[in-house]
Amino acid sequence: MSDSSIRFVLDGEVIEIDDIDPTRTVLQFLREDLGRKGTKEGCAEGDCGACTVVVAEANGDDLSLRAINSCIQFLPTIDGKELITVESLAPDANDLHPVQRALVEHHGSQCGFCTPGFVMSLFALYKSNANPSRQEIDDALAGNLCRCTGYRPIIAAAQSMYEEADPQSDWLRQAFGTAQDPKERVERLDRLVRKDGLALEHDGHHFFAPLDIAAFAELYKQHPDATILAGGTDIGLWVTKQHRELETLIYTGRVSELKALELTSSHIEVGSAVTLTDVVPVLVKQYPGLDELFRRFASPPIRNAGTLGGNIANGSPIGDSMAALMVVGASLVLRRGGKQRELPLDAFYHDYQVNDMAPGEFLERIRIPMPDPGAIVRSQKWSKRFDQDISAVCTAYRLQLDGDKVADFQMACGGLAPVVKRATNCEQAINGQAWSRETVERAAAALAQDFIPISDMRASADIRMRATQNLLRRFFHETQGSLDETVYTYGRQR
Ligand SMILES: Cc1cc2nc3c(=O)[nH]c(=O)nc-3n(C[C@H](O)[C@H](O)[C@H](O)COP(=O)(O)OP(=O)(O)OC[C@H]3O[C@@H](n4cnc5c(N)ncnc54)[C@H](O)[C@@H]3O)c2cc1C
Ligand code: FES
Ligand code: FES
Repeated sequence: MSDSSIRFVLDGEVIEIDDIDPTRTVLQFLREDLGRKGTKEGCAEGDCGACTVVVAEANGDDLSLRAINSCIQFLPTIDGKELITVESLAPDANDLHPVQRALVEHHGSQCGFCTPGFVMSLFALYKSNANPSRQEIDDALAGNLCRCTGYRPIIAAAQSMYEEADPQSDWLRQAFGTAQDPKERVERLDRLVRKDGLALEHDGHHFFAPLDIAAFAELYKQHPDATILAGGTDIGLWVTKQHRELETLIYTGRVSELKALELTSSHIEVGSAVTLTDVVPVLVKQYPGLDELFRRFASPPIRNAGTLGGNIANGSPIGDSMAALMVVGASLVLRRGGKQRELPLDAFYHDYQVNDMAPGEFLERIRIPMPDPGAIVRSQKWSKRFDQDISAVCTAYRLQLDGDKVADFQMACGGLAPVVKRATNCEQAINGQAWSRETVERAAAALAQDFIPISDMRASADIRMRATQNLLRRFFHETQGSLDETVYTYGRQR
């Protein structure tokens, strides 16, 4: 049996809604239904951060707090959670949260419009990191745009918000005028835990949130035309920007097996609904050469909602994770009903937006092999901005040397073809050869046989190809230890 109303906590109250369009966004609900207008709409596509809110989930005896973009988050996905908006932080104007006080005192609220989003991203940082470095502050604000370029006072506020804090003014004690410690909040969320899945119906639109994989697989088999919804950071824009009608959504975010992340002696097993925020530290610990790629993947609010599975299944030619996962030999476990099969990721994409999944089949998990000792794995993202930008080109390499010779070289690229794919001619030009400048020059020339790049607003075909060849050269120099990292980190000095 499934429940047909959604329930979540807002300012200490449980809100229950039983008749709502499943694609109504959290932002629309706040501003239009509740008239709660502190949270702003800038872009409605997850880019500017004006709409940032924080969602709290019970995590054992504690709360995990994450900033998300309310403009592209569908309301049913916050079922069972606590929603915290800028209004939640200050019961009245004379009782500001330390983050807000720091912004006032450092003149960090300039236009005012983007400020609630900055407040909420800083609040999430304040709650998760007691002593952030400058880089951690920059990374936490990567999804908040200040169009008047007034980042200096905002960063000064972030650095001093901890000095502003005193326990009496902390929201966990005083917010909403009632004493509430984290335990009480966890208990309240525990009372919202469901025994059954969720099934909403509104005006011919359906939203299903099953709780286990058997129910999920069966539902999708019955509704092969339904849209599988994970973090919604791609799908949200289909609704807000393309105004697409999504008749039936089946949500992965409550399915325990799809949320599982497991390390075995041979693999990292990543359920398709694991968020990027959860999987990236595990992946980067095994493959440190992927650190910069994932730091530059969208922004914290997008990574808090978006999943690795969604990135792979969406299959955009400019998706960032796939090139890296291809060179490390990742495979996909696909499932239809009770039947599973495993497929190497580099055999998954056939053409632009065409992949190997049959109707009713879905991505269950991603299997990422543990690293081979001695292999070098790197990925490079080339985009106009360091933060929160889509790649013009994204490359990845895996290199295993045997003395001076190349025992195994793999390279994959996004942004150059209708799908992310391996550079097989380039690989052939390198495998078995001396790892030298001359070999790399021959391989750079061979890239032209692997890809016929497109021209678009991100880069022309010619620039894309030349950039890719230069990125390969750069990788070679990095393996020789002959590049100064501070010069080559795309303009941001570390
Ligand atoms: C502002 C912004 C910045 C972004 N920056 C980047 C970036 O830097 N790099 C990048 O690569 N991407 C970027 N993206 C795109 C997006 O965030 C990623 O592709 C993300 O990983 C999608 O995951 P999701 O869980 O949100 O997928 P969703 O939007 O929920 O789904 C995406 C697609 O995958 C399908 N799907 C999801 N799960 C499954 C499953 N288990 N089985 C079968 N199909 C499934 C859905 O049906 C849909 O077709 C950005 C997006 C935004 C809005
Ligand atoms: S309104 Fe710009 S990110 Fe949501
Ligand atoms: S303070 Fe809002 S755009 Fe700069």
